[in-house]
Amino acid sequence: MAKETVLVSGGAGYIGTHTTVALVEAGYDVVVIDNFSNSEPSAIEGVEKILGRKITFEEVDTCDKEALRKVFERYDFSTIIHFAAYKAVGESVSEPLKYYQNNLVSYMNILELMKEFKRPNVLFSSSATVYGNAEVLPVTEQTPRQPATSPYGNTKQIAEDILRDCCNAYENFYGIALRYFNPVGSHPSALIGELPRGVPNNLVPFITQTAAGIRECLAVFGNDYDTPDGTCLRDFIDVVDLAKAHVAAVNRMVSGKMKEKYEIFNVGTGTPLSVLELITRFEKANNLKLNYKIAARRQGDVPAVWADTTLANNELGWKAERDIDDTLRAAWAWEKHVRGIK
Ligand code: WQD
Repeated sequence: MAKETVLVSGGAGYIGTHTTVALVEAGYDVVVIDNFSNSEPSAIEGVEKILGRKITFEEVDTCDKEALRKVFERYDFSTIIHFAAYKAVGESVSEPLKYYQNNLVSYMNILELMKEFKRPNVLFSSSATVYGNAEVLPVTEQTPRQPATSPYGNTKQIAEDILRDCCNAYENFYGIALRYFNPVGSHPSALIGELPRGVPNNLVPFITQTAAGIRECLAVFGNDYDTPDGTCLRDFIDVVDLAKAHVAAVNRMVSGKMKEKYEIFNVGTGTPLSVLELITRFEKANNLKLNYKIAARRQGDVPAVWADTTLANNELGWKAERDIDDTLRAAWAWEKHVRGIK
């Protein structure tokens, strides 16, 4: 039987690289596209090293519809995983048009071409940010979304709604939105990982850069929340597990096992960890001490959010498996690889 091909947009990015590896390991062919706006060609080399072979790659900006059209003309795929997007929450507040333009125009191009070329399956990278400050925890897929507090979050909500409407309206058009919690870690090979540009916004890259001596001190944003140790609670999901959730979702789409034309799944571990707990686990797992201090709350942070993963467990047959200590060792191994630290 011929292998199914999956188009991976933003495939040079953090989650895109890990998912590309997982797809190929699961027997899929991939066509990866990226414009390297927030990634490096070395990411593709890392993927190829892990896999021990070349992958099909095209340098394409998904906002350039004619360039994208050529990809649709050249390759026969039934499914796209659409990762390509900007993702800095703070920047989206100061530059909303940049976010709406890039994240929604690229997405519209993809959806229009999927329809035009009769390619049925769209897998969209959504985010737990759509739940905002939920009243009941853990959150299920039925937990009401809350008004977005950033243009970035709003692009995720709008994109979910567009996908739902397309699936309702068009024949042979199917969508899955995966709502990621907090993706962390790296492939155990340390050949791929997150490559934040400038000062990292996210916790784990800030931790690893502090451990590497690039940042002097990690600021813990608030220890006066109504949580057991006063710091925020999050659901940290290993990026390798997250990548496997994409494979499970693609399997479900291509084998015609979807129960609705548009489905949503939470992708997390189901277990919350506080910011301080994560720091302590990082120190222990890697046998080092981190320089950190308690600082003021960061505007826009929710005190706690974690996933009810029952639906993904039952319907996708997927479950987070990686141990958080292994995850944090992999995160540090990657930082050391990038910095050339022995
Ligand atoms: C986690 C916790 C911080 C940095 C965001 C987006 C989400 C998703 C992932 C991305 C919070 C605390 C952080 C630091 C700290 N999207 N923290 N010091 O905010 O849960 O989610 O990233 O593509 O949509 O909203 O993740 O890693 O920024 O923060 O104390 O230097 O760590 O306050 O409690 P967040 P995060």
